[in-house]
Amino acid sequence: MNILLLGPPGAGKGTQGERLADRLGLRKIATGDVLRAAVREGTEQGRNAKAYMDRGDLVPDEVILGIMKDALAAPASASGVILDGVVRTVPQAEGLERVLRELGRTLDVVLLFDVEDDELVSRLSSRTICESCQTPYSGRPPGETCEKCGGTLVRRKDDEPNAVRTRMKAYREQTAPVVEWYRRRADGANGTRLVTVNALGPVDEITERVMRELEK
Ligand code: AP5
Repeated sequence: MNILLLGPPGAGKGTQGERLADRLGLRKIATGDVLRAAVREGTEQGRNAKAYMDRGDLVPDEVILGIMKDALAAPASASGVILDGVVRTVPQAEGLERVLRELGRTLDVVLLFDVEDDELVSRLSSRTICESCQTPYSGRPPGETCEKCGGTLVRRKDDEPNAVRTRMKAYREQTAPVVEWYRRRADGANGTRLVTVNALGPVDEITERVMRELEK
């Protein structure tokens, strides 16, 4: 099964993506994680992506299409994937369709996480991550210690208010049209379902909502 997670920044794509990958035994691919790892490792891709990410802008399509192609062609992806934030523009949606077609696969479900703006801002402003192992925390201030590895908690640069505003704008202007693109696809004969999930409420409850949708 191949599943794409769509939704604004802070909608819970990463949180639910982890849980769904565990529950369904699928590999999770998150372009944000791939890019942040490249920034930490100081690769050319990371150096090029950093300025876009810090501002909250989308990284150019050709970079994402390269990541998408490599990740999907890997043997670990053969039995299905959870794609977290991998598609944020219409050219990326077209690119994903092309890559999957070349691999003889299709996208089964697009899950659109729906959360109101005030809640998104509140979630992002209270998030920290471990600078060593990248574990995310909610409501734990920067400077505290990571429970998993003892590293220090820091705020993501793109969780600063200006960058959050830019990310929300990028979502409205560049990613919202992707939802319409999939809606038209779902209405046609291509077989991809578009499912809107109410992503407000306890994390466990949202996972159960998603699982019920996937069982349909
Ligand atoms: P990325 O890391 O993917 O950022 P994002 O899409 O903005 O998503 P977030 O990680 O902020 O939020 P999320 O929806 O995953 O929510 P999460 O579960 O973390 O991308 C970063 C950047 O990389 C982009 O801005 C762009 O520059 C670049 N990029 C990546 N992919 C790209 C692409 N395809 N094209 C171009 N550029 C690309 O939850 C957020 C917080 O809320 C956490 O603290 C969590 O604990 C909390 N939370 C989760 N669920 C709940 C709940 N139910 N109730 C309360 N709190 C909750």
